[in-house]
Amino acid sequence: MKTALVTGASSGIGAEIAKRLDSLGFNVIITARRTDRLETLANELKNPSTVIAADLSVREECLKLYEQTRDRNVSVLVNNAGFGMIGNFDETDLDKELSMIDVNCAAVHILTKLFLKDFKRKNRGFILNVASSAGLMPGGPLMATYYATKAYVVSLTRGISEELRSANSKVSISALCPGPVETEFNDVANCDFAVKGISADYCAECGLKGLFARKTIIVPDAGMKLAAGSARFAPDRLVLGVTRTMQKKKLDK
Ligand SMILES: NC(=O)c1ccc[n+]([C@@H]2O[C@H](COP(=O)([O-])OP(=O)(O)OC[C@H]3O[C@@H](n4cnc5c(N)ncnc54)[C@H](OP(=O)(O)O)[C@@H]3O)[C@@H](O)[C@H]2O)c1
Repeated sequence: MKTALVTGASSGIGAEIAKRLDSLGFNVIITARRTDRLETLANELKNPSTVIAADLSVREECLKLYEQTRDRNVSVLVNNAGFGMIGNFDETDLDKELSMIDVNCAAVHILTKLFLKDFKRKNRGFILNVASSAGLMPGGPLMATYYATKAYVVSLTRGISEELRSANSKVSISALCPGPVETEFNDVANCDFAVKGISADYCAECGLKGLFARKTIIVPDAGMKLAAGSARFAPDRLVLGVTRTMQKKKLDK
């Protein structure tokens, strides 16, 4: 039986990815802090699933999660857990930001490294890192730390992807880079999107399609694909100014 591990599966994109992997015949290991939510999701899944409580802002819990799952023959790892925060950099809470860096970067880094070693040994396996279109931009005024964490995930994924490609490995790694998605993200980040988001289910569908097609960067929505593409050719100052205006709209809502 195929097994997948999905972090941040208690809501939003992670829950939808878990449901889709279940439909594809995977036994899904779902993890987050809110186990009541995970139990409810587990009851909806067709195949046997496993609920594991973990706070991925704590390094030891990332390592423990790996120890608890390493013998389960995981062939798909989805690093999805993450959150954002809005505000001027000199005003946002340092502890919360360091926790964000731990969840959005360190946990992704640790789990990717540990599972990648196993996947390379077996010469099979897929890793989907849920980054963001924020990670494709030159920076994110008013969400500076969040954008920086997602740029880290995009860069890490691209680097590993090239290592795997040049080694002719059958292991594949992808970064999912959506624009706004309708989830609980805004409640956590304490903001509102400036534009309407895509559904978490559609985002999950595009993410898994891109993952199994071995795409390194997956941008689900056409509008965001255009924006990210244009941003590569526009002067950084212009892109940063437009990004700031978009983020300011979120703050003002
Ligand atoms: N929504 C968007 O517009 C959007 C766009 C681009 C990228 N993303 C990315 O998509 C991913 C999923 O976010 P979402 O939009 O689906 O938001 P969400 O509905 O708020 O889900 C976030 C998930 O992350 C988990 N999580 C947060 N902190 C955690 C911690 N310390 N330990 C373990 N799990 C933790 C949450 O579980 P618990 O609270 O139960 O622990 C929850 O399951 C994130 O990486 C986010 O940055 C979102």
